[in-house]
Amino acid sequence: MADYGSSDLYRSPRYSASLADAVKGFTTSPMWDDWDLDGLLVDVPTAYATKLGVKYGIFCSSGTAGLHASLMALPLRPGDEIILPCMTFIRCATPLLHLGLIPVLVDIDPSTGNLDPDSVALAISSKTKAVLAVHMWGIPADMQRLVSICKDRDLYLIEDFSHAHFSRHTDGFVGSFGDLSYGSMQRKKTLSVGEGGLIVTNDEETYFRLRQITSPGSFKGTSNYNEFSGFGLNLRMSPFSAFVAKELLGSVDRIVSDRAAQAFAFSELLGQFPEHVVAPEVPAYAEVVSAYGYKPRLGPKGTLDMLRKANQSKLWRFGEFSYGHLKDDVFWNKSTDYYPFCQAIRPRLIAEYPGYEKYMDGRVGLSVPTVEAEYWTATERSRWADALRQAFT
Ligand SMILES: Cc1ncc(COP(=O)(O)O)c(C=O)c1O
Repeated sequence: MADYGSSDLYRSPRYSASLADAVKGFTTSPMWDDWDLDGLLVDVPTAYATKLGVKYGIFCSSGTAGLHASLMALPLRPGDEIILPCMTFIRCATPLLHLGLIPVLVDIDPSTGNLDPDSVALAISSKTKAVLAVHMWGIPADMQRLVSICKDRDLYLIEDFSHAHFSRHTDGFVGSFGDLSYGSMQRKKTLSVGEGGLIVTNDEETYFRLRQITSPGSFKGTSNYNEFSGFGLNLRMSPFSAFVAKELLGSVDRIVSDRAAQAFAFSELLGQFPEHVVAPEVPAYAEVVSAYGYKPRLGPKGTLDMLRKANQSKLWRFGEFSYGHLKDDVFWNKSTDYYPFCQAIRPRLIAEYPGYEKYMDGRVGLSVPTVEAEYWTATERSRWADALRQAFT
């Protein structure tokens, strides 16, 4: 039996000889020495945006930089409130602190782990200016309802598609609903360039503001080349990463469909053992789940050890569910001592989080490997079915 334990199946971007050759060629090309890097930093993100059905794309240095730049691009002021899910990656909150914005942590839908629209509506105050929807593990958030709430209450909607590159909602790709959307392209993500991020928007003015913010100071294509000097934080993507993104573009559809197929096949397997383990729920409006992570729940008879025992080939990775409530994050608890500049900022909490409690009950961590479909073969699947059967009896 194959043992994938020491292989690089989780390495991302996956090594390929053709990518290595292409990168080598890049270092000797004139593009390497181009200050504006328009070919890579305008054309390539635009191609990604077009694929998502959005007009403009900007590459930045990370997902965190993507949120930081997005918040700076909107007319927000210190003290404004931004609604975000109580369970997500901490860096969905970090840029808010740097900009003096107040995170409002609201409850999640227990079936998807994403923002619960009813809780969003209840948490809106006169200070609320924007909602940040994160598509956790690749499962689209309820965009129809979130778009409608944001329109009715005149709020900006930002999407974080770090976990959900090219996941599709019946109404469009995730990332195509927000006023602004961003996603991490860091080494573990489904579409990875090592470190990097993509921001997309349909609004031309926002696009230019984003270019101003992510640029090292000035950029071509504006009426005054130096107009924006001084504002840029140089949050743009490195030329190496942008080059990898260019090379990756042709493989996007295959990578996404592999991920979606692996997650689906695994759910089908788990469906045979409902008393032991319950596959993640996929809402009816989700057409494609480009699964970044895979987080089932243990049933009354299941344990994490049983699942680990079944994972003999180590093709998948198991662990405790690693995300907790953001209110408990060490960042809030230590910031008074460590980060005086944001010590006045504490998240605004709502009274209760029943959706979060329900979501966490029995939840286990499981990572979909970054493997090509060839590894997730019929043999591997039937071996899994046998191993699960053995582990659960
Ligand atoms: C949902 C989510 N948003 C944002 C980020 C931050 O992205 P980056 O690591 O590229 O800064 C991550 C993690 O990488 C994430 O998982």
